[in-house]
Amino acid sequence: MAPSVLVVCLGNICRSPMGDAVLKHVAKERGLDLTVDSAGTSRYHIGEDPDDRTIAACRKHQVPILHSARQVTEEDYRRFTHILAADEANLRSLQQKKPRNATAEIRLWGSYLDNNPIQDPYYGGTRDFEECYQQCVHLSNAFLDEVVGKESQS
Ligand code: 4NP
Repeated sequence: MAPSVLVVCLGNICRSPMGDAVLKHVAKERGLDLTVDSAGTSRYHIGEDPDDRTIAACRKHQVPILHSARQVTEEDYRRFTHILAADEANLRSLQQKKPRNATAEIRLWGSYLDNNPIQDPYYGGTRDFEECYQQCVHLSNAFLDEVVGKESQS
């Protein structure tokens, strides 16, 4: 099955919409047609655009970003082959809400690279958002190396 990915953080306005945009961009650069979306474990920011600082970091690197914040749904656990959590708290929430019929592989995104979480930049500044952007690029490459590499072998 072609991989499809849901990137998840807490608010779905900072890290996960950035991860979503970057993963789409990196996949496109590799010539891959990958389905990618993002969602939050909380309801805090449903319907909001990404944070201005997330948009600015993506724009700076010419990565298109367009998203309206939403919460993770039960259907997401079947609709996507992979659900990638930004940090351990997000991973725990995802496991707690996981329905019985879930089929997605649910992992810390960092587990494809170095096991590090994506730190929440919400209370930080421009530099934290740039770091988050760079981490999303590395994590996107690590994810595609492992998952698309595996798929192409089978
Ligand atoms: P995100 O960042 O989970 O990367 O979207 C946050 C956004 C909002 C809040 C926390 C984290 N908040 O508490 O409102």
